[in-house]
Amino acid sequence: MPLMLISIERKKKSVRDACVSEKEFLDAIAAKVIVCHKCELWKTRKNAVPGEGRPESQIMFIGEAPGYWEDIKGKPFVGAAGKFLDTLLSEIGFARQSVFIGNIVKYRPPRNREPLPDEIQKCTPYLDSQIRVIQPKYIVTLGNYSTAYIFSKVALPFSGITQAHGKFYETSILGMRVTIFPTFHPSASLYSAKYKEQLIRDFRTLRHELEQKRLV
Ligand code: URA
Repeated sequence: MPLMLISIERKKKSVRDACVSEKEFLDAIAAKVIVCHKCELWKTRKNAVPGEGRPESQIMFIGEAPGYWEDIKGKPFVGAAGKFLDTLLSEIGFARQSVFIGNIVKYRPPRNREPLPDEIQKCTPYLDSQIRVIQPKYIVTLGNYSTAYIFSKVALPFSGITQAHGKFYETSILGMRVTIFPTFHPSASLYSAKYKEQLIRDFRTLRHELEQKRLV
């Protein structure tokens, strides 16, 4: 399937009115992330991983926290799970550069442990700022942690990714209309064929929806 870039007319935004591009805003957020000392993770991380992608993207993918390779390279989803995410994206017609990919926590937790509530609380204002700048129409949450965080922001009850995945939740976040689409974390595909198949099915569901909305 050929890769396509998203090309969508975007409504005029206040950031444009101020003559500052989305990219400049995202760069400014990334600059703050890089020097952040709000939690203890800065002591053990090699590089910050603020997130990357197309600033005007209509779709944001949100993972949990950087792992080993992300920490080395300063980019999200560049390890084994990231390779599978690239495959899933290309199967639904997106190049990685045509969407925005970020995490709820921007520094790698030591030995890839799960992020602590305090780390999530201190780090997520950066993600919120990125969402405000990008104004995505769709937020695809990857796994339990990012889904729990985004659901909590929109007061949706969350009882686990197994129950929540593969459905569209139309809601408002940070004053914007958005559709949330939770799915499993791509790393789940590395240890379970069942989750791998489920991720592929969910991405096909997403593809179908985006086609209906003429976003691909
Ligand atoms: N897992 C995540 O949640 N995020 C990354 O960037 C890499 C692996």
